[in-house]
Amino acid sequence: MTSAAVTPSSVTVRVPAKVNLELLVGPPREDGYHPLATVYQAVTLFDEVTVRTAAEWSISVVGPQSVGVPADDTNLAARAARRLAAANGVVQPVHLRVRKEIPVAGGMAGGSADAAAALVACDQLWGLSLSRPALEKIAADVGSDVPFLLSGGTAMGSGRGEVLAPVLAKGTYHWVFALSEKGLSTPAVYAECDRLRSGRPVHQPSPSPEMMTALRSGNARALGEALSNDLQAAAISLMPEIGDVLDAGLEFGAVGGVVSGSGPTVAFLAEDHESALDLAVSLTASGAVQDVRRATGPAHGAHVVPTSRPVSWPT
Ligand code: C5P
Repeated sequence: MTSAAVTPSSVTVRVPAKVNLELLVGPPREDGYHPLATVYQAVTLFDEVTVRTAAEWSISVVGPQSVGVPADDTNLAARAARRLAAANGVVQPVHLRVRKEIPVAGGMAGGSADAAAALVACDQLWGLSLSRPALEKIAADVGSDVPFLLSGGTAMGSGRGEVLAPVLAKGTYHWVFALSEKGLSTPAVYAECDRLRSGRPVHQPSPSPEMMTALRSGNARALGEALSNDLQAAAISLMPEIGDVLDAGLEFGAVGGVVSGSGPTVAFLAEDHESALDLAVSLTASGAVQDVRRATGPAHGAHVVPTSRPVSWPT
């Protein structure tokens, strides 16, 4: 008997959100993208993407953060799946079901996370077994943050964010995320950053020694002090209430606070689990924020959720 690979009829992949611990932005490149020196950390706030073989391509979006997410071909998860199919001569359509917990247009790479999850899920469903570099290449074509969401953990990103390098990071960090009911457009925030810096010299970015030292120490206070984001001023300029949220979190005992990516989510670092609980309660009670979520980092990147298999009992 030959051992033909058994391809499943559906695959579910869980994928984390990310926060940028440091996001240094250089002057715009000729292609419009900005060179970055960033440190990503994946956090335990998860979306899930399930793919199943279908007669036609389709997508549905469900879950607490699904409002405003396109359920059509423009969805990043659908674009990623189509690209993977095209690059590998796959003609089998799939239905994608995206379950969203990661805030939309919040600076936590929710769309990119779903794209990474779709790549891992379809790779398994279609029995492609692509190498990690091959998946990363397609991921980078789909979006700058997508390769990081494949690997997760804590990593340095350069280029436009898609070139990853490992960083030495110790410990588990306790985060409280202040969500906003409105989103911010990433291109608009980069454009505002350029506008605010026009007339000033902007250098090529390189990672700060403070951030690397803090990560090696595993100390939340040191990391809290080293958090920084060149897009923060631009996000606050477009949405001034972000500044009030930052002030509130620091007043309530966060050891650090920073706008996550292009915002408007604000990421607060707490000293430990108890302090994170207290901070979340204080922020909620103050009415300064729309909604809060607690999470820890680092978290694993996109990974297949094992399905329960039928058990065969001896007779
Ligand atoms: O790569 P991605 O599609 O996620 O980027 C979305 C937008 O964010 C880009 O079209 C660009 O306007 C901006 N961007 C940038 N520089 C980067 C990453 C993103 O200007 N390094």
